[in-house]
Amino acid sequence: MPKDLIDLASLGAAGIERILERARELRQLPRAERERLCAGRELVHLFLEPSTRTRISFELAARRVGARVIDFDGDASSLRKGESLSDTIRTIEAMEVDGFVLRHGEDDMPRQVAEIAAGAVINAGAGTTAHPTQGLLDRLTLEEELGDLAGRRIAIVGDVRHSRVAASDVVALSLAGAQVHLVAPPELQRESVPDGVERGAELDPLLPELDAIVMLRIQRERIREEVSLDLDGFVERYQLHAERLGRMPDGAVVLHPGPMNRGVEISDAVADGPRSRIHDQVRHGVEVRAAVLEHCLDGPR
Ligand code: NCD
Repeated sequence: MPKDLIDLASLGAAGIERILERARELRQLPRAERERLCAGRELVHLFLEPSTRTRISFELAARRVGARVIDFDGDASSLRKGESLSDTIRTIEAMEVDGFVLRHGEDDMPRQVAEIAAGAVINAGAGTTAHPTQGLLDRLTLEEELGDLAGRRIAIVGDVRHSRVAASDVVALSLAGAQVHLVAPPELQRESVPDGVERGAELDPLLPELDAIVMLRIQRERIREEVSLDLDGFVERYQLHAERLGRMPDGAVVLHPGPMNRGVEISDAVADGPRSRIHDQVRHGVEVRAAVLEHCLDGPR
């Protein structure tokens, strides 16, 4: 049976652990064996919003488990002729594909597509609410670095309000027992958070206690016009630069899901420095997505 991955809360603590464990196992698997895991499966990629790393990462992950990908080009499709997304999904579905990987600007779209599609539906980032594979890869990156995350203090800093990465990281990291702090100016802070997650506007007092910090860009494309943002003030209070990093404990690491706005939320020296785990995140992304595809596509055809 195909399975959907819409958000991490539905996957649950045990489901998250199984996928991360499998992602680690797949590293050891000989290539020929790995490529049989989803051999013959056919996936359609529907990236209806800009994406660089997530799209390429899913494509590579599919190849690594032997699945084939058809890339849907929204701009060259019948969506431009007024066809609704649900009719597009029904049409592709009638061709008997095994699954969809969906990136969309609206929060609820993956769930709506999952209601229509018989195949697996994998959320590759939707609206401001969920980016489950990013939550998984961030957790894998932090576990590789810090081991068990129980009791670890992790700050997610920047535009947490509009960030689906923040939303999924909160779930992935809290379920691992980490103490998560969302740090943002009031206009970029989340209105509600799960129990146990801390919110605040001050970064500096937290720095000496942090085991890891996840920096986020300001998602200008999602900010309503009436919200006035003091960019200089943001840089002044939140930018992670060498001096701030120096106030964190020695083993603390820096994550960023990308795309980075260098000179805004993160300085060049930190992004490219020895404490940055940004490239590890990207590498782990392919591993985690391969495990997700295996889980959702349910074996070879
Ligand atoms: C994020 C996204 O698109 O949700 N990037 C990503 O997938 N790694 C974050 C962002 O756009 O800032």
